[in-house]
Amino acid sequence: MNFLNYFCIFFIFTIVLLNPTLCLDNGFETEGQEFHVNNYTANAQAHQQVKYFADGYFIVVWESYGQDGDEYGIFAQMFESDRTKRGTEFQVNDYTSDRQYRPVVAIFPSKKFIVVWESNGQDGSGYGIFAQVFDFDRTKIGSEFQVNEYTNSDQSGPAIAILDNDKFIITWQTESQDGNGGGIFAQAFSSLDYSKIGSEFQVNTYTTNSQYNPTISAFANNDYIIAWESAEQDGSGYGIFSQVFSGADHSKIGSEFQANDYTTDQQKNAVVLALPNDNFMIAWSSEGQDGSYAGVYAQLFSGADQSKIGSEFQVSNYTDGSQSYHAAASFPNSNFVITWTSDNGQDGSADGIYAQMFSGYDAVKIGSEFLVNNYTFSDQEWPDTAVFSNTEFIIVWESHNQGGSDWEVYAQMYQGEFSPTPTPTPTPTPTPTPTPTPSSNDTSFSNKIAINLFLIFAILIFYHFF
Ligand SMILES: *[C@@H]1O[C@H](CO)[C@@H](O)[C@H](O)[C@H]1NC(C)=O
Ligand SMILES: *[C@@H]1O[C@H](CO)[C@@H](O)[C@H](O)[C@H]1NC(C)=O
Ligand SMILES: *[C@@H]1O[C@H](CO)[C@@H](O)[C@H](O)[C@H]1NC(C)=O
Ligand SMILES: *[C@@H]1O[C@H](CO)[C@@H](O)[C@H](O)[C@H]1NC(C)=O
Repeated sequence: MNFLNYFCIFFIFTIVLLNPTLCLDNGFETEGQEFHVNNYTANAQAHQQVKYFADGYFIVVWESYGQDGDEYGIFAQMFESDRTKRGTEFQVNDYTSDRQYRPVVAIFPSKKFIVVWESNGQDGSGYGIFAQVFDFDRTKIGSEFQVNEYTNSDQSGPAIAILDNDKFIITWQTESQDGNGGGIFAQAFSSLDYSKIGSEFQVNTYTTNSQYNPTISAFANNDYIIAWESAEQDGSGYGIFSQVFSGADHSKIGSEFQANDYTTDQQKNAVVLALPNDNFMIAWSSEGQDGSYAGVYAQLFSGADQSKIGSEFQVSNYTDGSQSYHAAASFPNSNFVITWTSDNGQDGSADGIYAQMFSGYDAVKIGSEFLVNNYTFSDQEWPDTAVFSNTEFIIVWESHNQGGSDWEVYAQMYQGEFSPTPTPTPTPTPTPTPTPTPSSNDTSFSNKIAINLFLIFAILIFYHFF
């Protein structure tokens, strides 16, 4: 081989090793490539959640089939800020019989963390809610404990919020406990020894039919908000309802209120997010509203009086098929990001992960919706997101057959080159002026040069041999 051959091979490697950065029109760009989270890959690893500690550390939890010896179990992996794994992946649940499923994780200000999940058969009847607190070094603090007092039938779908002094609230859905189908209950816990503060309490006031899928978020002043879906309460199918609670005594602040304006068909899968500016956002998936199966919609509220700021808005821009299974996280500057699963081939093949950034003062879109997963073949589903700082966030999801074995957990980090400065709007009137600041095109430019050089060398090689 002559010099040109070597040079060409060198160049191909350079191209492969180049980290093609994808610049977004919201001021962020991909930070490295998407990466594989789980180590044990047999069967399915799914329903992942990600949370940020501080100082760059983050944790991902998920359910894994067959890894704990019996059906699903709960596993987790901690990471350093540069995405290297901090220690090995570890098993969260002690009780392994049957199915431990749908984990959620939360971080205490003290950097301890807690994982909560649903476990089948462990409380003596159907599913129950269990939890385990860990030290930052992953040692277990105490044993795994049962959250629900009422054990008849199923208690499932837990969500958790951390209050000050390491107190926390866990909420879940429960069957026939409120006298009528599904209902939403919650339990407060003390920081000192993770013992219960009072008894579990009923969250929903309207109990007719079923209430399901609670979501919870805490305000800076320690009050918290729970949202859920309720059947027939808005006059048609499921609708989204919500209630604010005092963090001091867990009493209701104001009344339960309806989040969705559009009530036809189903509004389900609420995600509530309290923002640092004391506004809050509720997002849900709505059937038929965007003209096809389902779309993601949301409403911004004032935390002071739960009044609506502007109108409910469409989060997902692409409307074909279903956009749903969304998650959200807020930046310290009160902007927020919503990520969701879009089916019907928006990413070129089956389900894919999309996301959109918003201003937390007027819910105006910052830039366009963007594709998260780089590997697009087959399905990518169930995203979750965590914010590290105004200039860094992460999205995790499960991808089908990407690693060659059923579902596996992947992640992509994003970094911003600037921090958009939101202007607080005193009146609850949306200002329709999205002004995305363009980010640097430098990286894509150098990639283009590299690709052009590569093409020139490829053509030279072609002429050399033929
Ligand atoms: C996207 O995937 C392709 C092939 O799977 C890979 O070569 C490329 O490096 C990936 N790019 C990013 C930004 O992850
Ligand atoms: C991955 O699995 C291998 C084999 O079981 C083990 O040696 C290694 O420590 C694991 N790595 C992590 C990060 O869990
Ligand atoms: C919505 O889609 C239209 C048409 O494809 C596109 O021009 C626009 O930039 C998109 N907006 C967002 C916020 O993604
Ligand atoms: C990159 O450059 C193109 C035109 O060269 C421009 O349309 C686009 O907005 C730029 N993108 C970013 C993220 O700056």
